[in-house]
Amino acid sequence: MLIKIKTSEARIGMFVHMVDGGWLASPFWRSQLLLTRQAQIDKLVDAGIAEIVIDTDRGVGPAGGGDTAPSVVVADASDEPDEPAAVPYTGPERRARRRPTTELDRARETVERSKEAVSRMFSEVRLGNAVDAAAISPLVDEIAASVARDSTAIIKVTRLKNKDEYTYLHSVAVCALLINFARRMGLPEDEVRDLGMAGMLHDIGKMAVPSALLDKPGKLEPSEFSVVQTHPVKGHALLIESDGVAPPVLDVCLHHHERIDGSGYPHRLTGAQLSLHARMGAICDVYDAVTSDRPYKRPWSPSEALSRMASWTGHFDPELLAIFIESIGIYPVGTLVRLRSNQLAIVTAVNDDDPTLPVVRSFFDIPTQAFVPQRDLDTARSRAEDTVHRTERGSYWFGDAWPQVMDAVRNGRTPPRASAAPVPPTPLAMGA
Ligand SMILES: [Fe+2]
Repeated sequence: MLIKIKTSEARIGMFVHMVDGGWLASPFWRSQLLLTRQAQIDKLVDAGIAEIVIDTDRGVGPAGGGDTAPSVVVADASDEPDEPAAVPYTGPERRARRRPTTELDRARETVERSKEAVSRMFSEVRLGNAVDAAAISPLVDEIAASVARDSTAIIKVTRLKNKDEYTYLHSVAVCALLINFARRMGLPEDEVRDLGMAGMLHDIGKMAVPSALLDKPGKLEPSEFSVVQTHPVKGHALLIESDGVAPPVLDVCLHHHERIDGSGYPHRLTGAQLSLHARMGAICDVYDAVTSDRPYKRPWSPSEALSRMASWTGHFDPELLAIFIESIGIYPVGTLVRLRSNQLAIVTAVNDDDPTLPVVRSFFDIPTQAFVPQRDLDTARSRAEDTVHRTERGSYWFGDAWPQVMDAVRNGRTPPRASAAPVPPTPLAMGA
């Protein structure tokens, strides 16, 4: 739907169909664009453009959603013939297709176009040509907009991939995961976009590794694994030779296989030596890899993957992993959560139909800072009564006694009184 709004009401994620005064008045070289940065909105305001027409089929709508009436409904875009997409795509399949109607449909189209663009770019690199990062930049914008509308849709679409398309779709998946993660962290939108680009390009060095090794259906020999392990350095070397590649993209490419205990590669850096971006990239890279169907292993479900990743020590930054789990909206077994009733609870089972509604066991009352009789609650059945508000850190509430508290609660015992370490509730720390 096309809606005219005041430029001052513009927000990130909106798709600008037309500006007041026409293209000549626009400060951008493109007549239409997706707003991905506050700087773009400021540019429109600074150019003295009072109103813009947005297309809600291609971006987010006015703030307030259905509760706020748009200034003027210009037209229903679904009545118009298909317009060219933000990224030219000339395949006949695209032209014949109707405009998608749900976010899942839109996400599928975006992912399909992205997969083809990444495939083309990777093929060029295999042929010895330079990385054309600018060619996929508009797709990062599209993915960012899809994540802004409904992050679950595009993350779901990119997770479901077959073995043959893994290499390309993994890049698109990590792009969407990093964008979603970065927004959950509250990072500036410019940084969010750089991380999206980092997701797209983090494995570009695999194009310098023989395909036979990447596609080998079985465990790699140590000598073969050594070759595959060269891909971060090779990718970094390719990107540094390319134009317009931002520092976070180079950083994530080079360090997405490092681990905080120093056992990763290529430089065996430890947590303190790794940037925030590199630690975020490592989490998203592994999450997508283990939830995907690979030649040598079955895919883990999202909750199984998060649960296993949380149990590994020395691999990921634990505080960042907790925020990542929140960003995915899934609560694996063993997660400490705060209920809307202000009680702490532990997730005891995952609801396969809707992982955002787990079965929990409540045991601690935050306002009174006291253990309370344990109560099992299926939040899928008790939505009106109580649901999960957010994840919490056990060490924050119970200090070193957290493992004993968790063990007691999971086994239906009352934790020892001395294990409670009451502290005033504050928002979850965001890490360094
Ligand atoms: Fe990699």
